[in-house]
Amino acid sequence: MKRYHPLLVVLHWLLAAMILIGLLVGGPALEEIDNDHPDKMFALTGHMIWGLVIGSLMIVRLITRLRSSAPPSADAGHAMLNTGAKLAHLALYVLVFAMVGSGIGIAISVDLFAIAFAGAETPLPPDFDGIAARAAHGIAATLLLALIAFHVAGWAYHQFFLRDRLIGRMWFGKRAD
Ligand code: HEM
Ligand code: HEM
Repeated sequence: MKRYHPLLVVLHWLLAAMILIGLLVGGPALEEIDNDHPDKMFALTGHMIWGLVIGSLMIVRLITRLRSSAPPSADAGHAMLNTGAKLAHLALYVLVFAMVGSGIGIAISVDLFAIAFAGAETPLPPDFDGIAARAAHGIAATLLLALIAFHVAGWAYHQFFLRDRLIGRMWFGKRAD
């Protein structure tokens, strides 16, 4: 097996774009809007839908990953780097699910689902500070961004130092050896 399943490839790049937009654009912009601003609920609803779509696609991706044959682990030339890459890939899944889970946690704490999707009149709290899930969401965002930078550095190491065109495994083409 030379490459990942094409559905995994499509979802890898779609999710990478969606997650980076959420981390770098959507989330930070949302945080800037005060909770008593008339646009806050609109922005929150958009962010929640975006995050829930990421969560659903991640579940589809995880099931596909577990059910399809994957290429053998890449060799970065050192046992520690190889183990690090495996752990980093696992941590990427864990942190994305942590973002979605903590986001849902914030929503449940302050009744956001009922306000956004069922027309409930419950007012928003003045801010989300002090909600444990909100703190977890911020910490997971910082860790995920750092891990993505590390993941891209791993790609650059393969691309420019080892020159083994590892990225071809996460692209389309003949899969059988
Ligand atoms: C932004 C969010 C991203 C996430 C959550 C993510 C997640 C992952 C995961 C979990 C894998 C392991 C394969 C699997 O189990 O499915 C993987 C593989 C890979 N990713 Fe990403 N990725 C992201 C962005 C990127 C970016 C921006 C690049 C390139 C610059 C990239 C390049 C690769 C490559 C080349 C592989 C294949 C590694 C191998 O064959 O061992 N990824 N990615
Ligand atoms: C992978 C998916 C998600 C990403 C990448 C993401 C990203 C972010 C980021 C970067 C922030 C600002 C955090 C900070 O800098 O402290 C944020 C805030 C927030 N997110 Fe998410 N999020 C995701 C999923 C969700 C989901 C599924 C929900 C709810 C169902 C949600 C609800 C919220 C709320 C309520 C805030 C607080 C906004 C504020 O402080 O005004 N997020 N998100």
